[in-house]
Amino acid sequence: MSNALVGIRPTPVEVPSVVHAVARRLRSGATVVPVWRNEYGGLTVRLEETCTRRSSYLKWVPHGAACPDPLAEADRLVWAASFAPVPRVLDVGRDARGSWLLTAAVEIGGAVAASAIEPRWRRLAQRAAVAIGIGLRRFHDALPTDTCPFVRTAETRVAALTAAPTAPLGTAQRATTPLALESPPPVDRAVVCHGDATVPNTLLDHVGRFAAHVDIGDMGVADRWSDIAVTTRSVTRRYGPGLEPLVLAAYGVAPDHERTTYYRALWDAEETRRAS
Ligand SMILES: Nc1ncnc2c1ncn2[C@@H]1O[C@H](COP(=O)(O)OP(=O)(O)OP(=O)(O)O)[C@@H](O)[C@H]1O
Ligand SMILES: [Mg+2]
Repeated sequence: MSNALVGIRPTPVEVPSVVHAVARRLRSGATVVPVWRNEYGGLTVRLEETCTRRSSYLKWVPHGAACPDPLAEADRLVWAASFAPVPRVLDVGRDARGSWLLTAAVEIGGAVAASAIEPRWRRLAQRAAVAIGIGLRRFHDALPTDTCPFVRTAETRVAALTAAPTAPLGTAQRATTPLALESPPPVDRAVVCHGDATVPNTLLDHVGRFAAHVDIGDMGVADRWSDIAVTTRSVTRRYGPGLEPLVLAAYGVAPDHERTTYYRALWDAEETRRAS
């Protein structure tokens, strides 16, 4: 058990033995510190090497989980690393129970960058909100759409939602999900979107400046509002109301009610599908 977890289901958490086994294989002698449990059974632990004082992050996801495969995320990290600050991939693998991704801890000026979800940023929420807006804009400006091999447009997401489900959908869900979403608003600006641009997935330096993004398993070319709509909502949910104008100003864009509403609804429909 550990009290270090800052994830969705709070402390304490028991690290499954398979994660310990993978951790031992990858970094023998490292201390395993759980940092995040996602909603689909995935677990991220920090591996702290006492000898070298280096840290790395191991994300383990069981097979069949309704979240991006760590191997697909590794492909995106390797591509994105030429353009934007994202963690360096150290190792990937899979076995009979799941797959995993090992990344180096992001360091800025010799200090390890930390997630904007850490409790200390709630007291400095305005600063963090600005950093999150700046970071998202940098990501969108830096990654080239013309050579990006990954696509995540509204159309591809709606098509995935309407595709034959693994478990049968109820009649009401089948009728309402696609109808509300099948006409996306016209694209404002196509960029390489992060795909899960939330507070926990943004890393800040020790004084609260943007440092890096993590968790880009859903990265792909799409309208920038598919990220912005999710980022602003995440800031409100994690820090409290009133900060969305700061995020938008830091990003450098005026509010767009229609696209924000659409992309939040699309996100919610995907969440509902994943939970079913
Ligand atoms: N290389 C890294 N450097 C620093 N922190 C990291 C790194 N990799 C992961 N983290 C931390 O671990 C947390 C969990 O990692 P990640 O977001 O990839 O997991 P996830 O299960 O996909 O998350 P989600 O619940 O958002 O889907 C991150 O929010 C971040 O705080
Ligand atoms: Mg995450």
